[in-house]
Amino acid sequence: MSGINYSEKIPNNVNLSEDRTLQRALEHWQPNYLSWWQDMGPDGSQNFDVYLRTAVSVDPQGWAQFGHVKMPDYRWGIFLNPAEADRKIHFGDHMGEAAWQDVPGEHRANLRRIIVTQGDTEPASVEQQRHLGLTCPSQYDLRNLFQVNVEEGRHLWAMVYLLHKYFGRDGREEAEALLERRSGQEDNPRILEAFNEKTPDWLSFFMFTYFTDRDGKFQLCALAESAFDPLARTTKFMLTEEAHHMFVGESGVSRVIQRTVDMMNQLKTDDVAKLRAAGVIDLPTIQRYLNFHFSVTIDLFGADQSSNAATFYSSGLKGRYEEGKRTDDHVLKGQSYKVLEVSNGQLNEKEVPMLNALNEVLRDDYITDSKGGVERWNRVIDKAGIPFRLSVPHKAFHRNIGTLSGTKVSPDGRVISDAEWNAKVNEWLPTGEDRAYVASLMGRVVEPGKFANWIAPPVMGINRQAVDFEYIRFN
Ligand SMILES: [Fe+2]
Ligand SMILES: [Fe+2]
Repeated sequence: MSGINYSEKIPNNVNLSEDRTLQRALEHWQPNYLSWWQDMGPDGSQNFDVYLRTAVSVDPQGWAQFGHVKMPDYRWGIFLNPAEADRKIHFGDHMGEAAWQDVPGEHRANLRRIIVTQGDTEPASVEQQRHLGLTCPSQYDLRNLFQVNVEEGRHLWAMVYLLHKYFGRDGREEAEALLERRSGQEDNPRILEAFNEKTPDWLSFFMFTYFTDRDGKFQLCALAESAFDPLARTTKFMLTEEAHHMFVGESGVSRVIQRTVDMMNQLKTDDVAKLRAAGVIDLPTIQRYLNFHFSVTIDLFGADQSSNAATFYSSGLKGRYEEGKRTDDHVLKGQSYKVLEVSNGQLNEKEVPMLNALNEVLRDDYITDSKGGVERWNRVIDKAGIPFRLSVPHKAFHRNIGTLSGTKVSPDGRVISDAEWNAKVNEWLPTGEDRAYVASLMGRVVEPGKFANWIAPPVMGINRQAVDFEYIRFN
């Protein structure tokens, strides 16, 4: 075990070979990580050679090196963006002071919690997606799934690096616990609810990577502002990889829609039964999946009013999305923000102290960002000349966290009775029948250049390779 040369085996820019303590910690953790990957990583894929992107450095030439590798041999590296000279804290009560190169004692518990919560989502999504390879719609898509999976593994490494390097014994214990929790397991589940949901089919996977990986983007952006400099630099580099995950989701849904509208035009029908008989996913079903993934994901931002959110901001642990580009005072004391409440049987806005509403601020920024891709999906439908529009539901729809949890709200934002909810919920959220239908379409297609009937081919391949390139060698 101790014979492994970590500076070769783990590409890194953190001087791993010169940090004995860190090396020892990783020497203990790495075999456990690999055994987690064997148990919970992509099902039945251990022997495939997959055309993957590997980061070997943070510069433009090094962060995306492509080649066929076996996933258990993937070089999960540790990378921090280059340090900014004399970086200063740029928000909260410590604004103007030097950024921290180590963890201040008074913020230790909160920082550890933030890092563990982020870290927990990374292996969780690999677990959620582990069976999807068995029903991939093409080799191209299978490769994209595996790329997302290995990079989520690397994001776990990124968080474990911080835990090992800066949090001593507690950090090592947390790093072990990250390999012990399991998505959806009753007695030891993952920390956040959306990461305990199943990702049972590829439409769910594309919705997940579009909506839920985008939550990852917003959390990472907020942490990239942190006063704790190693966290800021680590998350900045993670963001470069995250972009591909959201691309997989956006282009995946877009291709499903393309195939559906082509079939609608070919058959000259919008009849759901006829479209299902033709083996494509009808647009109302796509809307219901969208409603589900959007609403479950916006819960991830937490309660609309939160004293923790205020503490994290004021103490400099977690900033806002694009904190540096904002022109206010970056302290936010005495400022207010509008959140929703239910009064007189309807949703009303109320002003609350902005510091307490920072979860809502981040959620609203997320919602604005996620609407962009939905509009691009609508363009595919428009181009086909079909009068149908997808939209994100009202943010109060189907919420499980915060003031709005427990209130029944329609996708267009009306507070409704339980009776109306029960009468309409099958139009708004995927039904058992929808899920069974989508599941019935899932069958493994792996011949290069071939695609399942329910999805259009991509416009181009990965890394300028052809669409029918051999992305996976099955051996
Ligand atoms: Fe990630
Ligand atoms: Fe991701």
